[in-house]
Amino acid sequence: MARISIENVNFLGKKVVIRLDLNVPLKDGEAQDVTRIERIIPTLKLILATNPKYIVILSHLGRPKPKPYAQWNKNESLAPIANTLQNLLGLPVIFSNKQIGPELCQELSTIPNNSVIMTENIRFYSGEETSSSEFSQQLSQLGDVFVNDAFSCCHRIHSSIVGITNYLPSYAGLCLDKELSILENALVSPERPVIGIVAGSKVSTKIDLLLNLLNKLDYLFVGGGMANTLLCAQGYKMGGSLVENDRLGIAEAVLQKAKISKCELLLPIDAVVARKLAPNISTQIVDIDMIGADQAMYDIGPKTLERLQNILRLCKTVLWNGPVGVYEVPPFAQSSVIIAKAIAQQTQMGKITSIAGGGDTIAVVGQIGVDFTYVSTAGGAFLEWLEGKTLPGIEALELKQTKLVH
Ligand code: 3PG
Repeated sequence: MARISIENVNFLGKKVVIRLDLNVPLKDGEAQDVTRIERIIPTLKLILATNPKYIVILSHLGRPKPKPYAQWNKNESLAPIANTLQNLLGLPVIFSNKQIGPELCQELSTIPNNSVIMTENIRFYSGEETSSSEFSQQLSQLGDVFVNDAFSCCHRIHSSIVGITNYLPSYAGLCLDKELSILENALVSPERPVIGIVAGSKVSTKIDLLLNLLNKLDYLFVGGGMANTLLCAQGYKMGGSLVENDRLGIAEAVLQKAKISKCELLLPIDAVVARKLAPNISTQIVDIDMIGADQAMYDIGPKTLERLQNILRLCKTVLWNGPVGVYEVPPFAQSSVIIAKAIAQQTQMGKITSIAGGGDTIAVVGQIGVDFTYVSTAGGAFLEWLEGKTLPGIEALELKQTKLVH
C-alpha cells in the first residue's frame, strides 16, 4: 500500500494539522542551521495555495522532559523557530503557547482563513512519547486532516507521528515523500563497497543500530561517543571521555559480531584530547591507548583520519551520520570538516555516491558549503531505515490509506 502525497489533495476550507521536524540547533535563540525548515516550505506553500481554513504546526525541539504547563520554559520553547519560519515562508506565523485542548481550539476558531499557527514544543506533553490515545485524540481535535512532513521523526511511535493517524485522514508531505524516494533510489541496491560513518552524540539511541548495520555495509567507521564506549569495551582507558557504561554490554555484542561479520569495523586509533571541552583550549594528539586519566577524547586523530580517507577512496557509496568530533567547539571540528570535504570532492569527481543525514551532520555540510549527492534531514530515522526497519510513522501513513479516500 502506498502513502498518499499531499499533491493529490485539495485542502480548501480544511483545518490542517501538520507534524514537522523543526528540531534545529539553536544558539542564543538563533537557528544555526535552517535546512530542515527550508525543506518543508514547499509543503506549507502547496497547502496554502489550496486555501485551507488554517495550518496548525506540531513539532518538538530537543528532548525536554514532559512537564506541567506552569513549568514550560523559554529555553526549550519553539518560539524562536516561529520567527525563522515566518522569515523563510514570507508569511505571518502565529506562535501560540496555549496548551493543546479547549483553549487552543478556541484560539483556532477565531483566526483568519489561511493562517499558519505554531504550537509549543510537543514534548512538553506526557502523552506525546507514550503515544497515549487520549493525547492523540486531543491532537486530532485540532483539525480535519493530518499531514506528516517529518521523515526524521518517523522512527518514533509518538502521538503526533503515529497516534493521530488513528483519528484523522493522513497524508505524506512533499519533503517526506521526496526523502523516501531518493533514499530508495540510491540505497536499495547501492554500488559497493559501501561505508557507513556513524558518530555524533546520541549514543544510547544509536548504538543498538550498529548490530544491524554490520549486516548491510562493507565498512563501518564508528566515531564520537559511541566509539568511546566500544573502545572502553575493548579495554582501553578513556579518561574523562563520554562513555555510556550502561551500554557496555551492547558494545561488547557489536565487537563480537564484527569479528564474524564480513563488514570491517573501524574504530579510532588515535585521538585529539583535552582536559576539558572549551573553545581554544590546548589540545594534544595521542594514540588511543595513551589517553590520560585527566584527559578526554573530543575528536579523532590524524592517523585515524588518514586510514578513513584511504578507505573512502576504495568505496563507491558513503553514508554519513554524525560528526566524528565535537564540531560545535572549534578545535574539535577539524576532522569532521576534512571528512566532509574529502567526501564532497570524491562526489564531484563522480567516484562516489554520498548520502549524509542527521541534524548535526547537515550543519557541518551546510557550514562548509560542500555538495553531497543527497543530504537527508533525518538522523536516527535514516539509520533505522538503512537497517531495513519499517518506520512506524511511514507505516501509519500507509495503513491509514483506506481511511483517506472519503
Ligand atoms: C532528529 O534530530 O533526529 C529528530 O528531530 C528526532 O529527534 P529525537 O532523536 O530526539 O527523536
